[in-house]
Amino acid sequence: MKSIFNILNNQSNNYSTIQNCRADIIGELEAIIQYNAHLEQTDNEKAKETINDIMLEEMVHVGQLFGLLFYLNPESKTQFEKGLNEFNYS
Ligand SMILES: [Fe+2]
Repeated sequence: MKSIFNILNNQSNNYSTIQNCRADIIGELEAIIQYNAHLEQTDNEKAKETINDIMLEEMVHVGQLFGLLFYLNPESKTQFEKGLNEFNYS
């Protein structure tokens, strides 16, 4: 049987994990911005190829972290999807 301490501790841990996940998404987006800037600053084809490959991996990481965030906090998924639906593609 879980004590109130364990329940509160789990809630606190989950809160921290959700906030850390959001911070990690920011980190991945910042990495994408930096790789993109460095991509634009080089004429070296090997560097372009390597940096572009890494940048695409960072985009995958963003998706993974959003998946984790949505798992941990379903309300974030609901609001994210609401935002997608409100965006006008035309
Ligand atoms: Fe990453």
